[in-house]
Formats: sequence, structure tokens, C-alpha cells
Amino acid sequence: MQNYSHVVITGAAGFIGSHVIRLFVNKYPNTHFYNLDKLTYAGNLANLTDIENKSNYTFIKADITDAVQIEALFQQYQFDAVIHLAAESHVDRSITDPTAFVMTNVIGTVNLLNSAKALWKSDAHKNAPHRFYHVSTDEVYGTLGETGMFTETTSYDPHSPYSASKASSDHFVRAYHDTYQMDCVISNCSNNYGSFHFPEKLIPLSINNIKNNLPIPIYGKGENVRDWLWVEDHARAIDVIFNGAKPGATYNIGGHNEWTNIDLIHLLCKIMDEKLGREAGSSAKLITYVTDRAGHDLRYAIDSSKLQNELGWKPSLQFEEGLAKTVDWYLQNEDWLNNVTSGNYQNYYAKQYDHR
Ligand code: NAD
Ligand code: DAU
Repeated sequence: MQNYSHVVITGAAGFIGSHVIRLFVNKYPNTHFYNLDKLTYAGNLANLTDIENKSNYTFIKADITDAVQIEALFQQYQFDAVIHLAAESHVDRSITDPTAFVMTNVIGTVNLLNSAKALWKSDAHKNAPHRFYHVSTDEVYGTLGETGMFTETTSYDPHSPYSASKASSDHFVRAYHDTYQMDCVISNCSNNYGSFHFPEKLIPLSINNIKNNLPIPIYGKGENVRDWLWVEDHARAIDVIFNGAKPGATYNIGGHNEWTNIDLIHLLCKIMDEKLGREAGSSAKLITYVTDRAGHDLRYAIDSSKLQNELGWKPSLQFEEGLAKTVDWYLQNEDWLNNVTSGNYQNYYAKQYDHR
């Protein structure tokens, strides 16, 4: 990290980004980190109260789809590296509004690449080290059958508007590396879980619904398989890749931890029954099978051996332990959950920063 002075992390008010910027701000006190985030429904500065007053942290409210604003910010702050997480991230929303995903995930990424290129090719910067790290998803590879795993050489085959937009952004990042010799790095990660996860996604939605005795919606037969990784292990992987990868490299990140949705929800119900002092089996009665997601990918599984062998990263937590920790966090942070489910967090923080 000693090579970079001004690192911008986009989307750091969101779920994964907040964990990444917390790790970096605490671990690298001599580097200044800028959280560039639009604060959409998914961005919440309450995720970052523990670092908001650190001297090496600055929040910038900005929209990556606004090329003029992004260009001006690169010139003003002279960012020398980018860790790009800002995105529309929810598959179901991409099915109802694909264009929003093209705008943020594709155009927004290209705007960042253009601004980085313009600054880093300028006379003042051209001999200094720079890095553009693009955080992507395993969904770009499409779906697996009963066997096999995604590797870094698996062909792209996205099925949802979300994964198509992320695949497109990956292609642009590689194109800027190949065409303009920019130092670009990409990682493709499996499903994350943990604290500060927005309760529209399967695990936090189900925790919230079980807590409030509401139905747990399971799409289709619940047989789809996801590979779950604790979000802090993803943040650690981003750290080792950002600091250790060769220019142009791609790494897959995953937990070697496959669960069908229905088995995962049964485990979650068991943990919640114990934590809430409910009779065994009572939360599972909330399971409700609903219409399947359109284009629902059957199975994701990540082979992360390249990352493990080359950079020495591996997941730190067993899923049962991580899930129990996650449930504890949601039960102990009722205010956070209530603020998010009521939408109150947006009013408070959006107003505060609109006046700056
Ligand atoms: P999230 O939806 O929780 O957070 C996204 C953040 O981006 C929010 O803070 C939001 O305000 C910000 N943002 C959205 N549009 C913006 C814009 N136009 N300008 C500036 N900021 C904007 O997402 P997440 O789950 O934390 O995912 C972060 C990244 O990691 C995404 O790129 C996603 O594709 C990728 N990813 C996520 C997972 C996962 O399991 N959640 C797994 C692999 C990869
Ligand atoms: O694989 C990485 C991806 O994981 C990330 O790129 C995405 O940003 C992230 O949202 C996540 O995508 P998924 O679609 O896999 O996550 P989600 O939590 O929405 O759904 C997980 C599985 O649970 C999926 O098979 C759909 C199913 N599901 C989801 C919801 C919200 C349900 O059965 N019921 C639900 O209510």
C-alpha cells in the first residue's frame, strides 16, 4: 500500500464496500481513503460510524453515471488508485429495471476508467504507480449443472440483466488494460453474507422475516445452490489482491461452501429458534414457496485455488459459525435493521450530505 496516497473506494457505503473501507482505513493509516458513493437505497453511512471521524477517511457523495462530476473529482483529489464496488447489485431489481443496471454498472464503470486514464496518463502522473481494481461477481460465468466449478478461464455466459451488466463492465476493464496499458485487476466473488447486508437479499431478508414472524419466500423449489463467503473474508481477499496481483490479473474468490437455498434456510431457522428461545421447528413453519425468479441460475461454485496458491488467501470462518455470528449481529442491531426497513436512514443521511 505504500505506493498509493489517495485511494478512492466506490460504493463503500454499501454492504461489501463498508467492510472493505473499514479494513483499509484501519490497516493503512498513512494512506487516505475516499468513499465515493451516491447513497442509493443500498448506501447507508450508518454502516461506517466507527470510521467516519478517522483522519484518513473522507466521504464524497457522487454519482458514477455523471461523467463530468467524476472527471472533476479525479482532478480535485488526484486519486492514484481505484477500488470499484459501486453497482446496482440485486438480481430481482435488474429484472424489473435493467436500464438502471446498464447506467450504473456499465456506463458508471466506463466513466471511472475514462477519468482514471485521463489523470494517470497526464504528465504529473505518468511515471507514478496506479491501479484500477474492479470488484465483480461469479454470476458473469452463468450457471453450473450438478458438478464442476467456475475457474478464471470459464467463458462468460450471463443470464440476468444484472450479470450481463457486470460481465460488460468486466470486459471494459480488460479492454482498458489491453488497449491503454492501464494497471487493471478484476476479482469475481461468490455470494457474501454478514453484517450490514441489505435485507432484500436472501439471508438478511429471512433473518428479518423470521424475527417478525413473516413468511420466508423461497423461489421455486429452493434447490438452487449458492457458494457463501463471509463478507470479511471477501474484504481480506480484496486486500491481498489489491496489494499482490500482477497488472491484468483476474482472481476468483469463494468459500468452497455450497448450500441449496432450502437447506440454508432450514439451518437459519434452527439457529434463530435457539437464539430467540422458540420451540424447535417453529421458524421453519414460515417457509413459503413462491414463484421462481425468471432466468434463475441453478448453481454457482467457485474454484479459488489460484488465489489460495498465488497469494495465500483462504476463508477464515466455517459457515455455521459465520451464520450464527450474522444472526447475533442482526439481533443486536435492531435500530440499524429498523432504520433500513423503514427507509429512515435515507432521509437523515441524504439531507445531511446534500447541504455540503
Ligand atoms: P450494495 O448494493 O450493498 O452496495 C452498492 C453501493 O454502491 C451502495 O452504497 C450504493 O449507494 C452505491 N452506488 C450504487 N449506484 C451508484 C452510483 N451510480 N454512483 C455511486 N455509488 C453508487 O452492493 P454489495 O452487495 O456491497 O456489492 C458491492 C460490489 O460487489 C458490487 O459491484 C457487486 O456486483 C459485487 N459483488 C457482490 C456480491 C454479493 O454477494 N453481495 C458478490 C460478488 C460481487
Ligand atoms: O453470486 C454473487 C451474487 O450474489 C452477487 O453478485 C449479487 O450482487 C448478490 O445479490 C448475490 O446474488 P443472488 O441472486 O445469488 O443473491 P440473493 O440473496 O438475491 O439470492 C440468493 C438465492 O436465494 C438465489 O438463488 C435466489 C434465492 N432467493 C432470494 C430471495 C431474495 C429466494 O429463494 N428468496 C428470496 O426472497
